[in-house]
Amino acid sequence: EKGGYDYFMLKEIAEQPQAIADTLRGRLSETGEITLDEVRLSDQDLRDVDKVFIVACGTAYHAGMVAKYAIEHWTRIPCEVELASEFRYRDPVLDRSTLVVAISQSGETMDTLMALRHAKEQKARVLAICNTNGSTIPRESDAVLYTHGGPEIAVASTKAFLTQLVACYLVGLHLAQVRGVMYADEVAAVVEQLRGTPSKVNKVLEQMEPVRELSRDLASSRSVLFIGRHVGYPVALEGALKLKELAYMHAEGFAAGELKHGPIALIEQGTPVVCVVPSARGRGVLRDKVVSNIQEVRARGARTVVIAEEGDDAVAAYADHLILVPPTPTLLAPLVTTVPLQVLACEIAAARGHDVDQPRNLAKSVTVE
Ligand code: M6R
Repeated sequence: EKGGYDYFMLKEIAEQPQAIADTLRGRLSETGEITLDEVRLSDQDLRDVDKVFIVACGTAYHAGMVAKYAIEHWTRIPCEVELASEFRYRDPVLDRSTLVVAISQSGETMDTLMALRHAKEQKARVLAICNTNGSTIPRESDAVLYTHGGPEIAVASTKAFLTQLVACYLVGLHLAQVRGVMYADEVAAVVEQLRGTPSKVNKVLEQMEPVRELSRDLASSRSVLFIGRHVGYPVALEGALKLKELAYMHAEGFAAGELKHGPIALIEQGTPVVCVVPSARGRGVLRDKVVSNIQEVRARGARTVVIAEEGDDAVAAYADHLILVPPTPTLLAPLVTTVPLQVLACEIAAARGHDVDQPRNLAKSVTVE
């Protein structure tokens, strides 16, 4: 049932191109509108939204962090993302013009469900992004967009994450369209870019042998750090989470710009630092900033593992290990840059002899608060 793979996780990583394509299928109507699965909200309700809160846990929270960049950029509505377990305990300001987006693979995560219920009590509208048909979170929401990732067995979330990203982009595009901030042709252009991502993920997957080798090499490290900026920051957090949960190693993700405010003190001779480099084209400034952060950690002895775009040749000079991914528009880049980090965590865990699919102390679905 593992389809020839050693672990479900590897199988699910390999299924990602298909999962993205399935989540995108049929979303653009004949008239150029993005369609959700269940909508018990009127377009007017969506036009009235003046604030978006995304609530989620773990990997889904990282998808929400990426979504914030896209949703604010496309809709111009302020968007915050919050850990579901923190959300309701701080008395957030919510009313009927707030849209709360709950992201959950299982649809049964208690923290996320309780955040959703709290939002509904305050009259906020709730939209669910979920991978499990008919589960509690979508059932209790006003609108639903299902990710069509298929069942995810491995405890570590992989294809669910990429499909959550796709769903978040679609929600952002839908909101922008309904509110008249984006025209149908602009939306269609982004959907076209999204449709190009499965083949890019495939390409990344075809080039994973050096990552496997590197993983065996890094398996004895004490600690691995991850840095990124903009949407690369949640990718860094996601890479670190995967490594923690599977390899039981100290792993931490940082916003690259924060290094100098403290974490750079952690760098010792040989400390592996995985660096997620933004596209050199779209936002060259960001790319240059990350490159100077890479130089800073390297000057302090870090062993750099650099994830960069094909064609960004200059970055090789700062990379002890270079992993190239196909060029992808900045906001969509996490769909490709996350993939090597999933493989890295899986292979390091396997090299350390751990049960990749069933890491200790963890359950696939966390139904307690
Ligand atoms: O089912 P959910 O998406 O609500 O689950 C949320 C988290 O528990 C989940 O993403 C967890 O962090 C994964 N084990 C990460 O790989």
